[in-house]
Amino acid sequence: MAKIIGNEALSEDIYIIIIEGKFSGEIGQFYMLRGWEEYPLLSRPLSIYDINDGNISFLYKVIGKGTKRLSELKEGDNINLQGPYGNGFPKVDGKVALVGGGIGIAPLLYTGKILEDKVDKLDIYLGFREEAILTDEYRKYSDELYLSIGSNITDQLDINKYDYIFTCGPEPMMKKIVDMKSDNNTKIYVSLEKHMACGIGACLVCSCETKKGMTRVCKDGPVYLGEEVFYE
Ligand SMILES: Cc1cc2nc3c(=O)[nH]c(=O)nc-3n(C[C@H](O)[C@H](O)[C@H](O)COP(=O)(O)OP(=O)(O)OC[C@H]3O[C@@H](n4cnc5c(N)ncnc54)[C@H](O)[C@@H]3O)c2cc1C
Ligand code: FES
Repeated sequence: MAKIIGNEALSEDIYIIIIEGKFSGEIGQFYMLRGWEEYPLLSRPLSIYDINDGNISFLYKVIGKGTKRLSELKEGDNINLQGPYGNGFPKVDGKVALVGGGIGIAPLLYTGKILEDKVDKLDIYLGFREEAILTDEYRKYSDELYLSIGSNITDQLDINKYDYIFTCGPEPMMKKIVDMKSDNNTKIYVSLEKHMACGIGACLVCSCETKKGMTRVCKDGPVYLGEEVFYE
């Protein structure tokens, strides 16, 4: 059990929860969180938003019963979290763009923070439906920050400028990026969201067929090479 030291609403349905303790994690990994006794039964997966000395934080959107319960927790409440889990984004060098849409921006802050001084160039692209949030946070780690509100962030992206693209967000957005033609052999990695139960590869709830065969998103993902994925 760990103690919650903050759970702040950034907008009507987007929150940041900060949890006290010493935590670790690679870029693009996630934790399973459970801050309630009985219902709902299962923990919920959330990507690492940030890790600092003495705390970890998660950026989340309230969409159903688990995230609603999470949003009701207060400073001083206890929470159970397990992780870090999953295969995150690879460690790369060269020119990198991070592209997030909606709550898919969540794993990209910590990714930017870790990659910032290891790569030649790091640009961040954030797409929002109605209002932009946390832009000053993301700007800290980007050479250039590109924003869109209510339009497609992919319209601003020229993948040929980059060696690697890491993206998380709605599948149509990620598919659009994967379908872009690269003259530069740009490698595109996507982070998938699937329902999960155990988070550790045991229950097969998160099974996902890829061009390389059947995989478990919690264990073999959530990050995949974009061209290996069948999009919905
Ligand atoms: C590896 C991973 C990392 C994630 N990181 C984040 C994060 O950083 N921030 C964040 O806000 N969310 C993240 N998610 C999604 C988050 O886990 C779900 O939103 C959450 O589990 C929903 O739980 P709930 O009880 O609130 O909703 P439920 O009551 O379980 O579901 C409400 C509705 O949403 C649908 N739904 C639930 N989960 C998903 C899903 N994963 N994909 C599509 N539809 C779904 C359900 O079918 C239902 O219609 C991540 C998911 C994965 C797999
Ligand atoms: S959630 Fe159980 S195998 Fe992935």
